[in-house]
Amino acid sequence: SKLTLSVIKADVGGFVGHSSVHQKLLDRAREYLDANKELLIDFNVLSVGDDIQLIMTHEKGVDSDAIHQLAWDTFKSCTEVAKELKLYGAGQDLLKDTFSGNIKGMGPGAAEMEFEERASEPVLIFMADKTEPGAWNLPLYKMFADPFNTIGLVIDPKMHKGFVFEVLDLKEHKKVYLNSPEDIYDLLVFIGSHGRYCIKSVYTRDGEIVAVSSTQTMNYIAGRYVGKDDPVMIVRTQNGFPAVGEALEPFANPHIVAGWMRGSHNAPLIPVSIKQAMPTRFDGPPRVVAAGYQICNGKLLGPQDMFGDMAFDRARQKGLEIADILRQLGPFEPHRLPLDELEYTSMPMVLEKFEKGFIEE
Ligand code: 13P
Ligand code: 13P
Ligand code: MG
Ligand code: MG
Ligand code: MG
Ligand code: MG
Repeated sequence: SKLTLSVIKADVGGFVGHSSVHQKLLDRAREYLDANKELLIDFNVLSVGDDIQLIMTHEKGVDSDAIHQLAWDTFKSCTEVAKELKLYGAGQDLLKDTFSGNIKGMGPGAAEMEFEERASEPVLIFMADKTEPGAWNLPLYKMFADPFNTIGLVIDPKMHKGFVFEVLDLKEHKKVYLNSPEDIYDLLVFIGSHGRYCIKSVYTRDGEIVAVSSTQTMNYIAGRYVGKDDPVMIVRTQNGFPAVGEALEPFANPHIVAGWMRGSHNAPLIPVSIKQAMPTRFDGPPRVVAAGYQICNGKLLGPQDMFGDMAFDRARQKGLEIADILRQLGPFEPHRLPLDELEYTSMPMVLEKFEKGFIEE
């Protein structure tokens, strides 16, 4: 039977501010999943910044009511601890009062895939804090469509046909499938605008799932400021899929994403070790960790801390230099996001104040 890998994440309270998750919340999440382990084959609980990541294997398929309910109840239970400890933003990402069968659209992020476990199943789980799902567009493009990143596209007969990208239009709530290599110029027209068009999944030309992100089409669920979505992504690797190193390589050169302080700034996405996943400078800069697992009969062997490698030190250094350059701009664009992308704004208040001050020129 098929295996499902579900990564469901939420921020239910930060320690200190928005910087990390308190140990007691992680303990509660593990206890809660352990008490319900008959639903699961295996699980791991990790954190990145102020987000709790539930990594679960099971046989219930994607969008399973039971699994989503379990994740929701786990986050609810963690929120109780966060409230007791008066952690910052307790329950922040739980935007609805009652669970309605699917966690999507309720605040938490979810990346899930169902597949036949291969003879060897190496997977990478990428988890970022202080940014949004569009952050995965550039690295996914490089992994699956750029031969300068992924030599397998050129020399591995199993990869040579290319891949299929599923792209969501977050605004119109539509999706489109585009093939690489033949549609790459069209693909780039869309995914270059990573605030609106996001890669949801990548498939082989034979329709096998290889990568999936936590991109959702409803990112304005709350109608009020709730921080960025702090996305996750699963990538299966090797043997016809990108090699582990090809999937990690796009992060060796930090790209610029939206997020950072108050979710309202452009910033480098810095690859860090699991230990370094505590963003504090100007509430950031945004960072990404990669947890590696070998899945064995549904069991999660890992995590391996893939960005712990010293070969990513230069990327960290470069990311910090980009951070310094952007920070010098303070409240000016393109460091601060344009008006229509700000998480919140004082503009209506200021405009009202100067309503009479503005005169025809
Ligand atoms: P090994 O020969 O070490 O298995 O490596 C194969 C590979 O795909 C490296 O990218
Ligand atoms: P989070 O989405 O990680 O809670 O970040 C919120 C924020 O505004 C940080 O400055
Ligand atoms: Mg937070
Ligand atoms: Mg967060
Ligand atoms: Mg968030
Ligand atoms: Mg080998």
